[in-house]
Amino acid sequence: MEASTEPLTPLQSAPLIDPFGRAISYVRVSVTDRCDFRCVYCMSEHMAFLPRRDLLTLEELDRLIAAFVARGTKKLRITGGEPLVRHDVMRLFESLSRHLETGALEELTLTTNGSQLSRFARRLFDCGVRRVNVSLDTLNPELFRQITRTGSHELVMAGLEAAQAAGLKVKINVVALKGVNENEFITLVEFAHSRGFDITFIEVMPLGELDGPERIDQYLPMQIVREKLSAKFTLQDSDHRTAGPARYVRASETGGRIGFITPLTHNFCESCNRVRVTCTGKLYMCLGQEDAADLREPLRASRDDRALHAALTEAIGRKPKGHDFVIDRAAQVPAVMRHMSMTGG
Ligand code: 5AD
Ligand code: SF4
Repeated sequence: MEASTEPLTPLQSAPLIDPFGRAISYVRVSVTDRCDFRCVYCMSEHMAFLPRRDLLTLEELDRLIAAFVARGTKKLRITGGEPLVRHDVMRLFESLSRHLETGALEELTLTTNGSQLSRFARRLFDCGVRRVNVSLDTLNPELFRQITRTGSHELVMAGLEAAQAAGLKVKINVVALKGVNENEFITLVEFAHSRGFDITFIEVMPLGELDGPERIDQYLPMQIVREKLSAKFTLQDSDHRTAGPARYVRASETGGRIGFITPLTHNFCESCNRVRVTCTGKLYMCLGQEDAADLREPLRASRDDRALHAALTEAIGRKPKGHDFVIDRAAQVPAVMRHMSMTGG
């Protein structure tokens, strides 16, 4: 991938700061809406995926990310769908590693379902990736199949081993599902901590229309997850923070960390320094709101990045103060209609 050698104008290097004074230093970019799994809370069984021409090309993704880095992005998370099923995605990672080498970017990470880690863990490490978030909701292969519909538990377990062998730090993400995996939270923590992984529990979010069981019925507040874990572990509050929205505790018995993400019950918007870009180049200033800016049009309008930078400035000027998430029992509709695989986790 060819990096532009044009010097940046002042506009093209001005930090992105929103109207509430929050510097946008964390960007998540989805590189595909496709996935080899069909998790019940994320996708319908027969998902219609986007036509290829709608997706940003790898070159466009590279330009877009370079523009964010020039404007102050320090942490970049690549997501999907499943990012590692995008054809040739390693070419993008290889190109992005230049921003780590210059020091402009502090961290390059990804969220993955783990299915391709056996193939790619070592190359990811070579590109400067040091941490991966791997989704794993259960240790029971049969339940794993029910939740992911098409996923292989064995493949993910092998992927976790490969990640660890390559030197990647692993964080396990567990979506807490009432009546589904709620009796496994303790086992999952024991599993993660015995391997030196962090683990984070996530409340199921009302994103996209699905044909599976109603998420409203599967919604399990983090307070209950915490109580269940307290039966086994002494949970000490921790002031550990990452760039993400998780709150952490430490389990005295294992010495390991446990995170909780409560998009519905806890308002973490005040300190939100992040934005998301979909695989079609839509910039969402807030996960919980519909407002988005199209970055594909300026990317395709010309080879130089002037229009892109102008679009970034304009969009960040509209970043809202907070979100409107609510699981509404009366309305029974998702608060946000797009699927998670569009905006990424
Ligand atoms: N609610 C909560 N988490 C979700 N994820 C996907 N869809 C949802 C949802 N509706 C999670 C995945 C993964 C991350 C990308 O987001 O399990 O951990
Ligand atoms: Fe794929 Fe992740 Fe969605 Fe599951 S949650 S279908 S692994 S993108």
